[in-house]
Amino acid sequence: MHNTQNVTSDLVWLGANDRRLALFENVYPIPNGISYNSYLLLDEKTVLFDTVDAAVRQQFFENLQFALNGRSLDYIVIHHMEPDHCAELAALLQQHTETTVVCNVQTKKMIEQFFDLNLPTEKYLPIKEGDSLNTGRHTLNFVAAPMVHWPEVMMTYDATDKILFSADAFGTFGALNGNIFADEVPFESTHLYEARRYYTNIVGKYGPQVQNVLKKAGALDIAMICPLHGFVWRKDLDFIIGKYAKWSAYEPEDKEVVIAYGSIYGNTANAAEILATKLAERGVRNVRVYDVSVTHPSYIISEAFRVSALVFAAPTYNAGIFVNTDNLLRELTAHNLQNRTIALMDNGTWAPLAAKQMADEIAKWKNCTVLEPKVSLKSALKKEQIAEIEVLADALVQALRG
Ligand SMILES: Cc1cc2nc3c(=O)[nH]c(=O)nc-3n(C[C@H](O)[C@H](O)[C@H](O)COP(=O)(O)O)c2cc1C
Ligand SMILES: [Fe+2]
Ligand SMILES: [Fe+2]
Repeated sequence: MHNTQNVTSDLVWLGANDRRLALFENVYPIPNGISYNSYLLLDEKTVLFDTVDAAVRQQFFENLQFALNGRSLDYIVIHHMEPDHCAELAALLQQHTETTVVCNVQTKKMIEQFFDLNLPTEKYLPIKEGDSLNTGRHTLNFVAAPMVHWPEVMMTYDATDKILFSADAFGTFGALNGNIFADEVPFESTHLYEARRYYTNIVGKYGPQVQNVLKKAGALDIAMICPLHGFVWRKDLDFIIGKYAKWSAYEPEDKEVVIAYGSIYGNTANAAEILATKLAERGVRNVRVYDVSVTHPSYIISEAFRVSALVFAAPTYNAGIFVNTDNLLRELTAHNLQNRTIALMDNGTWAPLAAKQMADEIAKWKNCTVLEPKVSLKSALKKEQIAEIEVLADALVQALRG
């Protein structure tokens, strides 16, 4: 049975939820599922914006059939060729031989790579940045958004109803629960952290490209944002656009501390817990401590984009950094994290090397300060070293105030 919802009087949400998938992109845990959104515009011409992941194909095709209500499908606009949105393209075009594919040249090439469709040229309507398509009442303008999140990404701006179809941008992890509009849930308290984890992990690396798109969007009068995952935005657009502005500029949202420790036998963990206590004693609020072997890196990456100060504590491991901390730091390098204050603690029973090596990795991050002292344990924390942790806590407090 169909599960469609009207976004406006002539725009229908045809999305579908997947609550079974454990790992999005086979990497990111999604304990609350994910939605794949597709939208159908019912103008004089009918226009479908993207398809869905193969996992939810049945719901999608039932929705499409219901929403078309016997009409033909004139156009499919492909914003992004990643299979979570285009997996059903071949099946769609087999069912709807009347449909013209609207996409840019890069997308056309990718369609041919993914599928053996051999579509004749006249089945494509090639578009590029600045082109528009009139469908009756609506005029659709196309906007290039390279690397948000693949190189071929386009967005569509419906100039008639002032709707931005934003592809992966402004999406969030988490299935939709009947409420498809962000203003129908307490978004900031219940969903922002998953929007942040989605953005930072999936697109976080491409801050400058996101800033470019935000600049283009700033020139448009936008009343609604329809992304490919998660909620439709029709109120408080400045809130989510403001978050994107911060995240893409690698500016922290909160002057707070996150402590991410690795530990085999518990001694490094103990030092990290003590540092958290010392920070709390100094009035630092909302300190967050994570064990890198327990919390998936995607959550810590998201937290690293949120806060201004990060503490990494790790044992030495085969003359290197404890494996999960090592992985986390490399991931943060890959995500281009910048503008943070960092504190380091290490541990080693015979030759502690982790702090030096962590500092070497962090040296690749732009505009980050590593505080002194780097606290180094030899197996377990000794009473005399509490004073060092106190000094490090003072330095963190000063950085938070500065
Ligand atoms: C696989 C493995 C490799 C290790 N390699 C080193 C090393 O290269 N140098 C060193 O000083 N300690 C090394 N250690 C010892 C730990 O770093 C050390 O015992 C540390 O105190 C553990 O801290 P924890 O109590 O937080 O787990 C290694 C331990 C393990 C299990
Ligand atoms: Fe994507
Ligand atoms: Fe996606």
